Amino acid sequence: MSQTLLLLPGDGIGPEVIGEVRRVAAALTPDLTLDERDFGGISYDRHGAPITEEAIATALASDAVLMGAVGGPKWAGAPRDKRPEMGLLGLRKAMDVYANLRPALCFDALADASSLKRELVAGLDIMFVRELTGGVYFGQPRFIETLPDGQRRGIDTQVYTTSEIERVSRVAFELARGRRNKVHSLEKSNVMETGLLWREVVTDLHRRDYADVQLEHMLADNAAMQLVRQPTQFDVLLTDNLFGDVLSDEAAQLTGSLGMLPSAALGAAGKPGLYEPIHGSAPDIAGQGVANPLAAILSFEMALRWSLGRAAEADRLFAAVEAALAAGARTRDIGGALSTAEMGEAVLRAL
Ligand code: IPM
Ligand code: MG
Repeated sequence: MSQTLLLLPGDGIGPEVIGEVRRVAAALTPDLTLDERDFGGISYDRHGAPITEEAIATALASDAVLMGAVGGPKWAGAPRDKRPEMGLLGLRKAMDVYANLRPALCFDALADASSLKRELVAGLDIMFVRELTGGVYFGQPRFIETLPDGQRRGIDTQVYTTSEIERVSRVAFELARGRRNKVHSLEKSNVMETGLLWREVVTDLHRRDYADVQLEHMLADNAAMQLVRQPTQFDVLLTDNLFGDVLSDEAAQLTGSLGMLPSAALGAAGKPGLYEPIHGSAPDIAGQGVANPLAAILSFEMALRWSLGRAAEADRLFAAVEAALAAGARTRDIGGALSTAEMGEAVLRAL
């Protein structure tokens, strides 16, 4: 039976970078069926919601889902529950993709593009495992209220259960075994109850099932500092939804360009994964054909590897991206002048 990849190009530079994925897929995996739906602001404009029920059902029935980017100033005034970002959170929740893998890899050819010195980032290869469907992003209650004295008060709730912590921690430990066998678990157990529970559950799971993996607990603020002091000390970093959001942006910048980094959000085995470049919709350069398509192309690479069972094609694609970079292919964000399409062509040539 043929496999289906659902493309959600979205807004801003999303359609431009996903266009290059289409070309790569046509060359590398011609038997893969590509489907497509509106997502984000464009879906709101056309259908009145950032993602339709039909698109969610299509996503759940696909083998993998690859999105471009969502959002932009045009929708800043949209009703809060109709904002593009809410479509993304809703899709993550509906797909139950609780483990977000965010690699921060420094390609040797780009080590000088980092804002840190080359000797600090050369060879950097770390993997964030961010919990993606719980925590303060989804916790109830959440609201803004007006108090009797006229002040307003905003409330969010950070909440985690044992099973939510355990299932994402398993992903981190399993991944570490295939890498350098080291997990840093990040929380604020010194001030937060959820942080304390997080530390206890991770410790317990480690003792029961993963004693062969090296585990260190680190406070999230210290981790933020260690990431710019000596990032190569890390292998796998396990953390909750909010700390993972913040710290993975920091880690991304270490590698030289946000335009380079892919991500994978995974749920239970056999369920479709959700793949996305970690960059946003970049409204400032949208429509100019200058966005770097490599994060989207590498997200496709992760989909081949983690959802579609095509490791050989994934290896070929990864090698092609490395070869294109080594041959000097650079878009503007990494110090060159290639257009989006020209970077796509450089990868196709290397393939
Ligand atoms: C990310 C983004 C999203 C998040 C936004 C767009 C909702 O920042 O994927 O890191 O906060 O998760
Ligand atoms: Mg983020």
